[in-house]
Amino acid sequence: MSETPILQIENLGHSYGRYLVIRDISLAVAPGELTALIGPNGAGKTTFYNAVSGHFRPTRGRVHFNGRDITGVPAHKLVPMGLLRSFQITNIFPNLTVMENILVPLVLHHRKGFAFLPSLRRKKKLYREAEEVLDKVGILSSAYRLANELPYGDKRLVEMAIVLARNPKLVMLDEPTAGMNPEETERMIHLIKELATRFGTTFFLTEHDMKVVFSVASMIYVLHQGVLLAQGDKEAIRANTAVREAYLGGSARD
Ligand SMILES: Nc1ncnc2c1ncn2[C@@H]1O[C@H](COP(=O)(O)OP(=O)(O)OP(=O)(O)O)[C@@H](O)[C@H]1O
Ligand SMILES: [Mg+2]
Repeated sequence: MSETPILQIENLGHSYGRYLVIRDISLAVAPGELTALIGPNGAGKTTFYNAVSGHFRPTRGRVHFNGRDITGVPAHKLVPMGLLRSFQITNIFPNLTVMENILVPLVLHHRKGFAFLPSLRRKKKLYREAEEVLDKVGILSSAYRLANELPYGDKRLVEMAIVLARNPKLVMLDEPTAGMNPEETERMIHLIKELATRFGTTFFLTEHDMKVVFSVASMIYVLHQGVLLAQGDKEAIRANTAVREAYLGGSARD
């Protein structure tokens, strides 16, 4: 890896009580490179994400983000530093409009910076930014609908917009296409690629769906029973016998 990684993990491990779930994971995410962590159910992907993104402190190992040691730093402190994550389960305010869902993180984001502006100008600026973010993810036309009324795929786009409103350097997505139909999945893949190329956002995602992984990620890490089994580009992962045996099975030939 030529560039300094935006995220560097060293020997990360985590136990729930006496149950050691992930062990000795070392990996790096290069800025701008679409990176994926894959693995079957229960491999430890969400645990890894939670440990890295400040949900809880990992039992072992170090996490560096943008050159700073952030091991155990809680999630709310990572957000202003530019590290954000989404959850496997949708996490929006169902009884607010889409616009309000985006205004909440925007107000938080600009809490200090906008304080000097008169309230009307502040309001206009916030709405304009919210519209830009909604436009980025393609749901501006639903801005004044209740979030709860949207189809599932659009709810996940709202979630993506909430993340983008904080102007992240690194976005960790835990199964961004989980539960989506093929059309919604296609839209999400397209969006992730576009955000990465047009706006330079770095994404690090977990996935079950091989087609998604192979179509978006240029660097893939494979987690199996809590340890890293393989790493490389999609050709390397497809050709890896251990991965085929342990995880991919027939779908490796898709
Ligand atoms: N809070 C917890 N306490 C105890 N065990 C847990 C806890 N959370 C997860 N586990 C266990 O840790 C293991 C890894 O779970 P994790 O959710 O990290 O896997 P995953 O790879 O994200 O799976 P999936 O693909 O189903 O989302 C599983 O055996 C799970 O049952
Ligand atoms: Mg998971």
